[in-house]
Amino acid sequence: MACSGPVLRVIPSVLVLASMTLQAAPSDIEQRINALIARMTLDEKIGQMSQSTDMRIPLSDSIKQEIRAGRWGSFLNAGGPADRAEAQRIATKETRLGIPLLFGRDVIHGYRTVFPIPLGQSASWNPQLIQAAARIAAEEASAEGIRWVFAPMMDITRDPRWGRVAEGLGEDPYLASQLAAAMIRGFQTESLSSADAVAACAKHYVGYGAAEGGREYNSTWIPEILLRDVYLPPFQAARDARVASFMTGFNALNGVPVTGNLYTLRQILRREWSFDGVVVSDYTAIPEMIPHGFAADAADAARKALQAGVDMEMVSTTYFDHLKTLVATHKVEMKDIDAAVGNILRLKFRLGLFDAAPKPPRAVEVTAAALQTAKDIAIQSTILLKNDHGLLPLSPATTGKIAVIGPLADSPVDQMGTWVMDGRPGDVRTPLKALRDELGEARILYTPALKNSRDTSHEGFAGAIEKASAADVVLLFLGEEQILSGEAHSRAFLDLPGAQEALVEELARLQKPMIAVILAGRPLTFHAAAARLNAILYAFHPGTMGGPAIADLLFGRAVPSGKLTMTFPRTVGQVPIYYAHLNTGRPASASELGIPLGDPVNPVGYTSKYVDVDFTPEYPFGYGLSYTQFEYSNLKISARTLGKDRLTVSAQIANTGPRDADEVVQFYIHQETASVARPVRQLKGFRRLHLKAGEKIEVSFALSRDDLAFFDRRPQKVIEASTIRVWIAPDSTRGVEGQFILE
Ligand code: NOJ
Repeated sequence: MACSGPVLRVIPSVLVLASMTLQAAPSDIEQRINALIARMTLDEKIGQMSQSTDMRIPLSDSIKQEIRAGRWGSFLNAGGPADRAEAQRIATKETRLGIPLLFGRDVIHGYRTVFPIPLGQSASWNPQLIQAAARIAAEEASAEGIRWVFAPMMDITRDPRWGRVAEGLGEDPYLASQLAAAMIRGFQTESLSSADAVAACAKHYVGYGAAEGGREYNSTWIPEILLRDVYLPPFQAARDARVASFMTGFNALNGVPVTGNLYTLRQILRREWSFDGVVVSDYTAIPEMIPHGFAADAADAARKALQAGVDMEMVSTTYFDHLKTLVATHKVEMKDIDAAVGNILRLKFRLGLFDAAPKPPRAVEVTAAALQTAKDIAIQSTILLKNDHGLLPLSPATTGKIAVIGPLADSPVDQMGTWVMDGRPGDVRTPLKALRDELGEARILYTPALKNSRDTSHEGFAGAIEKASAADVVLLFLGEEQILSGEAHSRAFLDLPGAQEALVEELARLQKPMIAVILAGRPLTFHAAAARLNAILYAFHPGTMGGPAIADLLFGRAVPSGKLTMTFPRTVGQVPIYYAHLNTGRPASASELGIPLGDPVNPVGYTSKYVDVDFTPEYPFGYGLSYTQFEYSNLKISARTLGKDRLTVSAQIANTGPRDADEVVQFYIHQETASVARPVRQLKGFRRLHLKAGEKIEVSFALSRDDLAFFDRRPQKVIEASTIRVWIAPDSTRGVEGQFILE
């Protein structure tokens, strides 16, 4: 709806990251914990500290017997709803102390209703929607007896080769902090003891995303300054959001496995952050400290994990096998065991597991409301990367026939993405189905052309050319299958796998308008294909409702508004590439773009760049187009200097195009000089705004001295005087700019 003249709406300033304190456990809980621990045998304590995945369906007699004996405190990814209910009945009614079990599960981006992969969700820059999705996942999971989920994953990563980028919230610590806190609120609600609240788990603590070479489980080397400034903040934000638990990672950090790391677990998490929830190891991460070369044997690994503060062992049995002897030989102290058991019981009390009679499991159905949220978030997670001559949106009335081609047009499992344990392919609405429902079978000319995304055969090309020749528009569904991303699925090449690039080349010869929707678990490189395509939507793995969401975007019922949360490289050789890099002493400039033929080493250009590819990314952090245009203007700063108070930075954003749409407005700063060089830009705020066509909005961001603090070499948090440059911007490379003096 167009307005006659610009109307100025004023959006109030945002306060960045209000810090909350951890709610102290009520003293009666502490009394009950102490009373219980006083009655527990060492075997029962070690049982509480042990988590099993070995609960088959139906519950076997041997597992029932183990539960009666207090062998386990928790199960992960185990059993069906009825088995869990029966196991809980045995634990509470047939054991000596009646301590309830805690059932955990990998509910990473939805339970029965599958939302976009977390990296996709992060591209929505919409904490409210992410919170709503987590709430639905919690309601569905808790109905089936799950009260602990192993999410959010908040490993900052700047390397798209690493398969687990799919599970994370992107490369930026500020954004990841905000979004992780939103997920935690959605999972846990105000009160963990509500029957439909689930305990969240901040993982993988810490540094896992910096795996060398992007190779899964590889070592990480992170200087203290980066650890404090980049990798730890999302975890601290999770703790401030009262996350119930932490999971350690598989990686060694600066040579010390994080599952036995006194510094990160005892010093930072427990002392500096006063965390009193549960720390669980990752899957067999305790004995893995032996091949790491950090523990001599399983007993040594158990001792080191316990002393570092790992309360519960996931799947492996070093605690069960060795803690008793370690206590008897005075190699570990009972007080450390009691502290671990206390943390586990505290979580069980906080969840109300001791107080409420276990509810009979309820079959979970996908609801219309959940599907609507899944569709909304899939829409907002999709990024328009290219749209030559406004090819998109298509008009359903006037676009004749559409050739729908590609291995991901109708692939429910791939569309759901990595880490889906409870989503059902039968619930998934694929793009092909959505398009056929909308335009009818006759107008959709479909062929997958390739069996899957890795297929290298050209056999299906002839059929694809035939369909494309008969159509008015070619719509490709390209990318990577779900199995190419996620845990243990690192890639050394980031190209569209298989023969997809060749398929694009072939079809381009027809000179038809050509659109690609890319479904993937990570940023891919597709430079040559992009040049052939007229429009590109990047949908990641969009979940159950990906098809209808994509159809709405293609036909303009929704306007793309997602923005990238990881930098997209031009080629894998640029990795790691991220927006918040340092400037170097010889930064390259825009005038050095383009690779000169014949003279690759430019004598006047001894700057930080490559001789065979531009130094800039293919698509920068924060980037994403719309079907309308936004203009940024009139940056104002409320004061020339920032002393004790705070100041406000504002700008006007105008929707100068033809359509109502959302815009994700980003607020960046740069500190010009400091005792430790600061990134060229750092995100300090963002807002998702809705602007009607013709509307102009003033948006402002509040900035306090504390927001400008960083860690120096000691490492101490400091605020140092400097000129501070600020941008209110549509992405990390542009925006309206100003500066002030930080005193
Ligand atoms: C290993 C993964 O690293 C972790 O993220 C997951 O929660 C556990 N396995 C449990 O499945």
